[in-house]
Amino acid sequence: MGRLGEKILVVDDNAEFIDFIRRFLESKDFQVSIALNGKTAIEKTLSDIPALVLLDLKLPDMPGEDVLKSIKEIDKDIAIIVITGFGGEQVAVDMMRKGATDFLSKPIDHQVLLSSIKNALEIRDAQIEDGRFDRYPSLEKFFPFLAHEIRNPLHAISGALAIIQRRSDLKDELLSQSIKIISEEVNHLNEFVQECLNFVRPPNMVRITAVEINEVISVVMNIISHMFELESKKIRIVTDMNPNLPKIYVNYEEIKQAFLNIVKNAFEAMPEGGQFTIRTCHKSDSPKCIEITFIDNGIGIKKENLGKLSNPFFTTKLRGTGLGLAICHRIINERHGGRIYIESEENKGTTIKVELPIGRPLGEISGVK
Ligand SMILES: Nc1ncnc2c1ncn2[C@@H]1O[C@H](COP(=O)(O)OP(=O)(O)OP(=O)(O)O)[C@@H](O)[C@H]1O
Ligand SMILES: [Mg+2]
Repeated sequence: MGRLGEKILVVDDNAEFIDFIRRFLESKDFQVSIALNGKTAIEKTLSDIPALVLLDLKLPDMPGEDVLKSIKEIDKDIAIIVITGFGGEQVAVDMMRKGATDFLSKPIDHQVLLSSIKNALEIRDAQIEDGRFDRYPSLEKFFPFLAHEIRNPLHAISGALAIIQRRSDLKDELLSQSIKIISEEVNHLNEFVQECLNFVRPPNMVRITAVEINEVISVVMNIISHMFELESKKIRIVTDMNPNLPKIYVNYEEIKQAFLNIVKNAFEAMPEGGQFTIRTCHKSDSPKCIEITFIDNGIGIKKENLGKLSNPFFTTKLRGTGLGLAICHRIINERHGGRIYIESEENKGTTIKVELPIGRPLGEISGVK
């Protein structure tokens, strides 16, 4: 099948089933290793990263969902095919949201298994290839091309999906869940394309206006409370805003976008809840600026990643584009002559300070022509 020697880890507590799968996959020249429980599966993934994992969701020691999560944390490019017993489709669909590529129900047909593996490995190759984006000399040229190429088929997919939706029996749970997944993924891609365009969009002089930073922050926090409805209940928000800040000349939409990206990251870093503090103050020393500080006590950032944060596409999240902070850097540093400082400690939290200059003549704002 052209994928000779790829490593596959089979995780299942049924020795008979494992033996059957192992013999079949080895006859197709895959390298197969096995794990009879979740703990061994994670250890084997750590010691010798497989290309693909066949994961039974019913394991003796831990929920299959947790194993899936741990494997994806070790290397998010590992392809995972979930295996369920009869009637487990509902759970499997949920697993696909969490990063599984496909699911198969027992008993498993040889040909179905082989084509599912082939497909999952191809998707994995494409993902790895996407990670090598920096081959393109100019993102400014590449992103509009990418947006055009992706948006047209996305419109066609959305249209066709609407027809399927209308004609389908939506009482069929599995079918309606699958339609929902396609629709969510289409939205995700649309948003991704928009972020790529935001990243390269030229600055617009007309949009520079006198803005009250405290007001931008309250708009951002309002948007965040809708985006993170559930998490918001577990996150204590502390604000310490200086009410006497001078207005500053900025592009309101861009600054809002930058703050939104920063606060979104903070909320994403506190899935179990925590405390989020925003402070604004007026720094009158030279150069005069407004300082906005965002503090979370979430998962923090590994030391070795601190230098990579504003690289486009650097992400540690399964569904992240890695453009959030790159866009912030562009907006704050390059377009508004400001600075961003990031301090973070793993498992302690992250502090991001943004400085925006006051009273800077418009013509001097770098990038504004
Ligand atoms: N407050 C934070 N706490 C912990 N990690 C953070 C925080 N802010 C940024 N990061 C780290 O920086 C990485 C890059 O962030 P960035 O916003 O650029 O992309 P992303 O959040 O991964 O994806 P996107 O913003 O497109 O959803 C994140 O993946 C995360 O590892
Ligand atoms: Mg982000």
